[in-house]
Amino acid sequence: SEQCFPFYRTVPCDAMRGLLLAWCALLVGGARPSMQANSLNADTRPNAFRCPNNELARTALQKLGLESDKLPEDLCTHPSVGCEDCRVVRLELKAWLNGTMEAFQAVDSVSPFTALRRLSLKGSALSGDLRSLVNLTALEVMDLSGTAVSGNITSLSGLRKLISLQLKKTQVEGDVGSLSPLTALRWLTLAKSGVSGDVQSLATLTALE
Ligand SMILES: *[C@@H]1O[C@H](CO)[C@@H](O)[C@H](O)[C@H]1NC(C)=O
Ligand SMILES: *[C@@H]1O[C@H](CO)[C@@H](O)[C@H](O)[C@H]1NC(C)=O
Ligand SMILES: *[C@@H]1O[C@H](CO)[C@@H](O)[C@H](O)[C@H]1NC(C)=O
Repeated sequence: SEQCFPFYRTVPCDAMRGLLLAWCALLVGGARPSMQANSLNADTRPNAFRCPNNELARTALQKLGLESDKLPEDLCTHPSVGCEDCRVVRLELKAWLNGTMEAFQAVDSVSPFTALRRLSLKGSALSGDLRSLVNLTALEVMDLSGTAVSGNITSLSGLRKLISLQLKKTQVEGDVGSLSPLTALRWLTLAKSGVSGDVQSLATLTALE
């Protein structure tokens, strides 16, 4: 009979083929269940939960200067974005951004940032008017220092939950007295901004540290 391999000279070819096939079957059969287990694991882990697609927030983040092809499908997994129940509560964007504050404006009366509590755009090249933040009444911490943001500080007088407000080195102007309703304020920086007025009008801010 024909010889299969020199080494297995004594083994008939049919038997060799049979052994090889059996070995292959074992290999494939053994590998498949573990592959399935792996992909199952990937899909069922609790932290693999994905927030639904949020087109409004995606558009807004693009307006803030984030490149669309670098935005993950689930925006809440982006390192600059923090969410609770899939609503954006934290935005901390890096210095190189060059977008516009219009990103915060409502579109058809809907804003993706109504739950936003913490906003830091510090040192970015963002520009635009403070007025865009007028409806973000959940804001507690806001840092716009060193940005090109402008506008009238009266736009902030409805943000009653603000605890920390940093407007150092901005073009924001207007009367400092328009902050008098913000009685939760503990930290306030207005150095090198265009804000002016009588500091006595801040006497209501008894929590200021
Ligand atoms: C913002 O920066 C990006 C990337 O550096 C650039 O492509 C874009 O033109 C800039 N946009 C503005 C409005 O300056
Ligand atoms: C603020 O909310 C009102 C009412 O929903 C809306 O008409 C307006 O466009 C919003 N303004 C901004 C700047 O988002
Ligand atoms: C800011 O807005 C207030 C109220 O609308 C207005 O009286 C004031 O003149 C404005 N200040 C500046 C510097 O535009």
